[in-house]
Amino acid sequence: MKERIEQLRDALNRHNYKYYVENAPEISDRQFDALMHELQELESRHPEFADQNSPTRRVGSDLLSEFVQAEHRYPMLSLMNTYSIGEVQDFYNRVAAEAEKQEVELACEPKFDGTAISLTYVDGRLERAVTRGDGQKGDDVTANVRTIRTVPLTLHGGGYPAWFEIRGEIFMPHSSFERLNAEREERGEQLFANPRNAAAGTLKLQDSSVVASRRLDSFLYSLESDALPHPTHWENLAEARRWGFKISEDMELCRNMAQVEAYIDRLDRLRHTLPYDTDGVVIKVNDLALRTRLGTTSKAPRWAVAYKFAAERALTRLETVDFQVGRTGAITPVANLRPVLLAGTTVKRASLHNAEQIALLDARVGDMVWVEKGGEVIPKITGIDLSQRPADSVPIVFPALCPECGTPLVRYDGEARHFCPNQNGCPPQIVGRIVHFIARRAMDVDGLGEETVALLYNEGLVQTVADLYDLRAEQLAVLPRLGEKSAANIIHSIERSREVPFNRVIYALGIKFVGETTARHLAAHFGSLDAIEAASPEELAEAEEVGEKIAASIRDYFADEANLRIVERLRAAGVQFSQAEASDTEMLSQSLAGKTFVISGTFARHSRDELKRFIELHGGRNLASVSSNTDFLLAGDKIGPAKLQKANELGVRIIDEHEFEAMIGEAEISGPSPEAPAQQELF
Ligand code: IVH
Repeated sequence: MKERIEQLRDALNRHNYKYYVENAPEISDRQFDALMHELQELESRHPEFADQNSPTRRVGSDLLSEFVQAEHRYPMLSLMNTYSIGEVQDFYNRVAAEAEKQEVELACEPKFDGTAISLTYVDGRLERAVTRGDGQKGDDVTANVRTIRTVPLTLHGGGYPAWFEIRGEIFMPHSSFERLNAEREERGEQLFANPRNAAAGTLKLQDSSVVASRRLDSFLYSLESDALPHPTHWENLAEARRWGFKISEDMELCRNMAQVEAYIDRLDRLRHTLPYDTDGVVIKVNDLALRTRLGTTSKAPRWAVAYKFAAERALTRLETVDFQVGRTGAITPVANLRPVLLAGTTVKRASLHNAEQIALLDARVGDMVWVEKGGEVIPKITGIDLSQRPADSVPIVFPALCPECGTPLVRYDGEARHFCPNQNGCPPQIVGRIVHFIARRAMDVDGLGEETVALLYNEGLVQTVADLYDLRAEQLAVLPRLGEKSAANIIHSIERSREVPFNRVIYALGIKFVGETTARHLAAHFGSLDAIEAASPEELAEAEEVGEKIAASIRDYFADEANLRIVERLRAAGVQFSQAEASDTEMLSQSLAGKTFVISGTFARHSRDELKRFIELHGGRNLASVSSNTDFLLAGDKIGPAKLQKANELGVRIIDEHEFEAMIGEAEISGPSPEAPAQQELF
């Protein structure tokens, strides 16, 4: 058994590396998940073989009450910044003088814009991960860093020092950042200003399962040890790449100043195409012996320098402001700018976010404003050049009425944004909800863009998402820009959306504050839309990530007659309203068949969603609340007293995580043994 566990761990580590570092997966996601399930299962049955570096721990569930501080064995210094080629030349001259050579090898690397991390490996296993902190000591964020898939938990190959530290940057790729902010926007939470803040904030979260869901990434760029394998930085990094670390492919070994300059130019162009932020180039002496001779100041090494790209911003006139109505009714002020060239594209519009932001900037129509592109897609206004404010500048007045339907706008408690409350009569809200419903991450209906949806709405063909399922190809084929072929494709795609899994259906409904992650938790916790609809606010709040605000919003959704009519029509259309049962091939056993469980509280070894999945995979059923139909209450820490009391009153058996593990373990040994999973070709 131990052998199989280790075989699975090795395989999963290798496939993780192939997928996340090399971007060249060898097996399908489904095969990967199957291996992961098997390992999770074996580990839960054999706690004696537990290993905190197992790939299963990447899902992360440890709850840290606060971060413990850890000393750095070698201080974490910062870098000297330069902003001109002249300063880089000065650096080169100093280094060449010390080396007493005309030409010196310099490693040139992107300067990744994230948050610095120091990883310690002992005997090839990740021992701890510590933030830079004050340079002498930092926060121990090991549990969080373990969730980052490009950070190897155990190393490949051999030849690494028994003890070494590797340093690098944890960052949030643009795709993760955009997804995170979209979800936060949906939940009415404060947005992260840029991927760097998002990465730093995420690394300091207390709940590593949330960290896992945010998809951080890493690049490593320096090794520290008394026993490095090679005398140069370049060779050591190449070695580290073989051990499984993610080392940038965009580094270059330069032999003179001309090559350094060419690299800076190349990176300045390349960086606009990279899927993560870079804010400059780091230039480092390659020869480690020369580094020692150059030494360090108290703040930074003398053997490296950072060349920072100028922040790309442009000054232009703010001409007018539009107020856009989104699908949730939120009003976004959007500045129309005199077109200006910025980082290779012409910028004409920039978001002003909300009334507070406008007040904060003191922006007025007619002002000259600074526009910047951060990691965000939409450029933002970062400041005003007051010296150029025209005498006739006009303060921006937030409208009192919805610019689309004339309904008085409202501002809810704790919300920075204004809303149009006319959900069922305000055209952009209706069209926006339909566009959201058919989006790729929701019902994934192809061939229908925003314009076509607006057309269908204006033609009276689609007034709500439920109308989509009544559409006929001949109604579509006569519309401008659509022919018979695309009409047939759209109808086919709508047909197919009936198979979209339940969690995405919940997301597609567009309930305020219910983003993709919340939808997944709701699906796992309640199992069906009927159960969600019937749940009280307190019961709703028992699902992971659901708080009072989201619970209230779900209740509001189901309190609306118009929504209930839509829900009923979607049900009739055959949309998935419940969690698919695990398929026969996925089932681990039938040992819990006929048994019903309610899960409550927090658990040390598994997330609630994992426990629910186990119950299903062993043939049991999850219920949302304790009733006379409940067989077991699986109780974790911080379980609600009311729930316990109810279970006691009804004589429901209360079990803890260990008893549950024993149940699935024991039952399998004594019960009919499930088919042993076929040994798979692992590599
Ligand atoms: S080397 C002695 N290489 O920039 C300093 N740092 O402004 C060793 N950074 O704290 C750092 N990309 O967080 C190095 N390729 C790179 C880097 C890099 C980003 C960060 C790092 C450092 C900060 C200094």
